[in-house]
Amino acid sequence: MHRLETRAGQCAAAILKENDIHVVSHIDADGLTSAAIMCTALERSGKDYTVDFVRQLDESILGQIADTNPSITVFTDLGSGMLEQINGLGLNAVVSDHHIPSGDGPFHLNPHVFNINGAYEISGSGVTFLLARAMGRNDDLADLAVVGAVGDLQHVKQGKLVGINRQIVRLGRENGAIHCQRDLTMFGKQTRPVFKMLQYSSDPYLPGLSGNEEACIGFLKNMGLRFQGEKWFKWIDLEQDEKQRVISGLIQYCMGAGIAVNKIERLVGEVYTLLREREGTETRDASEYSTLLNATARYDRAMTGLAVCRGDRDKEYENALQLLAEHRRNLVEGINLVKERGVITLENLQYFDAGHKIKDTIVGIVAGMSVSVVGNRKLPIIAFADGEDGVKVSGRGNYDLVHRGLNLSAAMSSAAGSVNGMGGGHDIAAGATIPKEAKSEFIRLLDSIIGTQLRTT
Ligand code: C5P
Ligand code: C5P
Ligand code: ZN
Repeated sequence: MHRLETRAGQCAAAILKENDIHVVSHIDADGLTSAAIMCTALERSGKDYTVDFVRQLDESILGQIADTNPSITVFTDLGSGMLEQINGLGLNAVVSDHHIPSGDGPFHLNPHVFNINGAYEISGSGVTFLLARAMGRNDDLADLAVVGAVGDLQHVKQGKLVGINRQIVRLGRENGAIHCQRDLTMFGKQTRPVFKMLQYSSDPYLPGLSGNEEACIGFLKNMGLRFQGEKWFKWIDLEQDEKQRVISGLIQYCMGAGIAVNKIERLVGEVYTLLREREGTETRDASEYSTLLNATARYDRAMTGLAVCRGDRDKEYENALQLLAEHRRNLVEGINLVKERGVITLENLQYFDAGHKIKDTIVGIVAGMSVSVVGNRKLPIIAFADGEDGVKVSGRGNYDLVHRGLNLSAAMSSAAGSVNGMGGGHDIAAGATIPKEAKSEFIRLLDSIIGTQLRTT
């Protein structure tokens, strides 16, 4: 048994000793799936529980939790950056997280402690799945752990899930929850007509096709694709040879457009299908499922997302679909804003300030997507957005930069700390909250820290 699983056993025992459990999780797809896994495991163990979602843990939120005096709090997909404060308040807690931690303890379940990288080998929901397995028979929840990992883009580094994530996929396959296969990685295979799937493609951005409906239809007609009446088929409805023709056509198109080879290679990768879900719906595909979840929790509607994770395919599912339409519009608007305004380039980073035009809870997603549209891959991209309690900062890098020494978590945490803010995350993607007046000082510090990281490796 791996040491991470041994630690999971210790944490599970601590939880199962109590009766009334408070679960606190993060407001994104990984956080929602983590909470759903934990709540299901608790229910199956006959426990009472309450659940709450937060953007980020800070001292005031921890203080509020301490005031309600729960017998035990289980933090999922967050908490590893606040271990000292959690202990300081005397909270009886288990932390099940995958962010780069500051410290450790007996009830801290985090892959980094055991030299496993929480940016791509296991997600918050993966860690929580290990915890749930230690609590009882919960292998069937593997599909939610895969959705969480894909939501955190853990499959992007190697074009498939690797490390402990791979073992979770295997368990999911063994109990009939997951099917994985190499396929086009583009978003919307289950739910969009093929031309819409192309039209909305942002990674890779297809010059001449992305955003251009007519051009996409023309391209597909050239590939000899069929109509169904006046309607286009969805990707999942195409025959194998049609799929192959489109993939080859796209590869040729991208080569002709001078798109970098590594990007073209990313057109095809492993994709994850949830076999218990209905074909042609958002929840059938791990990537679409995770976007559906982000459309709820990042808009203060985490309980809707949680209900979907727990199996609601009725009212709350309908609510989630409506939120999804809004989320898509916001992402398109956000990317257009970055396109129009452009980015400011410093020596070691590029940034844009969205002010209040992009919601702080989705500015990180927009930053990640905008790299393929406007950004320069040689520099990390940093985004600012006005938030409720200061300025929200989101940073996104890539693995070439990480290999050259980039650690956005360390850089954000240190630069934010110097201006009275706080930050953290992963080497490849991190965030922070800083006081409004500290923006220029923060960006100067961050530029210098990232410069040092890139020079000293
Ligand atoms: O809080 P959390 O760990 O859930 O967030 C991870 C973030 O890192 C996600 O927003 C994901 O989009 C980002 N990421 C990325 N590129 C990767 C891996 C993760 O942008 N290759
Ligand atoms: O918010 P955003 O998507 O940019 O977050 C990127 C990563 O940084 C996530 O893993 C998030 O949990 C982490 N983060 C953090 N501390 C913050 C803000 C974000 O650890 N103050
Ligand atoms: Zn996560």
